[in-house]
Amino acid sequence: MTSRYHETYRRWKEDPEAFWAEAAAEIDWFKPFDRVFDPRQGVYGRWFPGGLCNTCYNALDRHIERGRGGQLALIHDSPLTGRKQSFTYAEVKAEVEALAAVLQKEGIGKGDRVIIYMPMVPEAVFSMLACARIGAVHSVVFGGFAAPELAARINDARPKLVISASCGIEPGRILAYKPLLDRAIELAETKPTRCIILQREQQVCELIPGRDLDYAEAVSAARGTKIPCVPVAATDPLYVLYTSGTTGRPKGIVRDNGGHMVMLKWSMQNEFGVKPGEVFWAASDVGWVVGHSYIVYGPLLHGCTTILFEGKPVGTPDAGVYWRVIAEHGVVALFTAPTAFRAIRTADPDGAFIRRHDLSRFRTLFLAGERADPETVKWAERHLEKPVIDHWWQTETGAPISQNPVGLGMLPVKYGSPGVAMPGFDVQVLDDYGKPAPPGTLGNVVIKLPLPPGSLPTLWNADERFREAYLTAFPGYYKTADAGYIDEDGYIFIMSRTDDIINVAGHRLSTGAMEEVVAEHPDVAECAVIGIADAVKGQVPCGFVVLRAGSSRDIAEIESELIGMVRERIGPVAAFKRVVAVKRLPKTRSGKILRATMQKIADGEAWTLPATIDDPAILDEISAALGRR
Ligand code: COA
Ligand code: AMP
Repeated sequence: MTSRYHETYRRWKEDPEAFWAEAAAEIDWFKPFDRVFDPRQGVYGRWFPGGLCNTCYNALDRHIERGRGGQLALIHDSPLTGRKQSFTYAEVKAEVEALAAVLQKEGIGKGDRVIIYMPMVPEAVFSMLACARIGAVHSVVFGGFAAPELAARINDARPKLVISASCGIEPGRILAYKPLLDRAIELAETKPTRCIILQREQQVCELIPGRDLDYAEAVSAARGTKIPCVPVAATDPLYVLYTSGTTGRPKGIVRDNGGHMVMLKWSMQNEFGVKPGEVFWAASDVGWVVGHSYIVYGPLLHGCTTILFEGKPVGTPDAGVYWRVIAEHGVVALFTAPTAFRAIRTADPDGAFIRRHDLSRFRTLFLAGERADPETVKWAERHLEKPVIDHWWQTETGAPISQNPVGLGMLPVKYGSPGVAMPGFDVQVLDDYGKPAPPGTLGNVVIKLPLPPGSLPTLWNADERFREAYLTAFPGYYKTADAGYIDEDGYIFIMSRTDDIINVAGHRLSTGAMEEVVAEHPDVAECAVIGIADAVKGQVPCGFVVLRAGSSRDIAEIESELIGMVRERIGPVAAFKRVVAVKRLPKTRSGKILRATMQKIADGEAWTLPATIDDPAILDEISAALGRR
């Protein structure tokens, strides 16, 4: 089949408003929008102003009204607990309405924030949709974050209410969530007045009288209540999702209702090539953007069945679990991070587990969240005998910026490239002075404004921070903070970040935030945290510390204290497990730490002596400490 990509992209570029107006016809509006795009509203313009809609209505009710009530909407497959549970569209709606009734009874209404701090259980999805139904703004916090990170999000979002669970489950251990929540509320300056706690049978927790409600009790008392979908403005926020910024202060990415629905619905068919009624699986977590867009909203807006998987690609129980889930539930497309495939490949290099399952209904594998190394892509292609699609996007955009558009017809694959720009995104590469870089030349990857429907209109309560962080470096463009190049055929190559963000097992983390923690240790005079290459996780953080003069403590002790501190303050997900003590940090004469050179040394890559270094001998010490000499 010849690809419709070029014609579609051209059609978008010639008349973006006509293009998105057509896509918007796939969504049910309570009141049509006045304009497709208004450049005078918001920071750089707003999509679909004047429109009234409801995301929960489009994800559930309208499918039920059109005969999908008996179709499965959600399958929870949890090898970590040995449980499987499925819900039809009608059943999800009943659960969501009951919870929405509880929320309304607790005084939650349009615009109020609700934090959801939950593991991968169906109630996490119901909570998101219940908020959407009544116009409340949800903010899901990933379970792997520690109490201070949760507190930082509570302080910024100022939720009236938190929905959480007694525990999460990781291989071989139960993680008590409730003490983390209680500690976070203790630390937070603004306290939510109510918490709804899901008691999981693996470990129940004590509820605080007067503050905590039992999820199951509250919902069962409200069962059968009909809660209509509250009309919200297309430009009203659906959710705020915090992501790592360049400091310890996370950025609250705002997602609106109208543009988000339009973009996700369009992407399911045209980018992912999935039809309503089919089974789609994003093996991520609801705490990340992938979980928001492609576990919950995208598949449900499109009338698909979505899989909520509580497990790991390996060890729950083995490297065949992905294939078992695909075969058992008839998954047509899987979306995961390359790190999951590196873990599977390490455990099952010959793909023996793949051959044990019937993957005849499975069509496409999508990889994103970090650079997909060609070796992993080729391994997956060889063993699955299906297209493997690397695609690139960010929490900020909420949907792919670039990919090989399966739904429009595949283009030739170029290994190492996450494909071509999707409609809505005019991707360019600029040098540090803002001049266009010639094809093939590495530079700053930027997107010409305006961003398309669904991309962030701003940061939560922080228009100025939004402008400073994304829009001022290259006027007229959104700065992705990725470095890369575009080749003669328009294929984009994303090589690294231009800020201090690292990607650990597909999780976006700030080394700056880790440095803030490490620097607080009483024996640390100075430190730098950099991301170093890891065969499975892509990158892992490594801390370099200079001890205070006179510190006589054992470095091994300090090391384990630092590891503990990062785990306590940021969370286990930071995977901060390595500390190297050095006499000094390599710096330029103006005092800038030479992080890029340190990273090259750590990764065993060729490096040249920076001309501006103040003391070259220090690099030898670092090489020796890392065993690179
Ligand atoms: N709640 C609490 N702790 C969590 C958690 C959660 N929801 N998720 C992870 N953690 C903990 C893990 O238990 C681990 O703790 P440990 O240091 O005590 O072992 C730590 O955080 C790091 O977790 P993770 O990054 O998942 O590493 P892992 O070694 O447990 O597993 C992979 C490695 C590759 C199997 C895993 O990262 C994975 O499945 N990745 C899939 C891709 C993915 O989900 N990407 C998200 C964006 S698309
Ligand atoms: P997140 O906001 O967590 O989705 O992380 C976004 C960042 O992950 C991007 O800015 C990139 O640095 C990186 N990233 C995501 N997908 C890809 C990809 N396919 N190839 C290379 N880098 C990617």
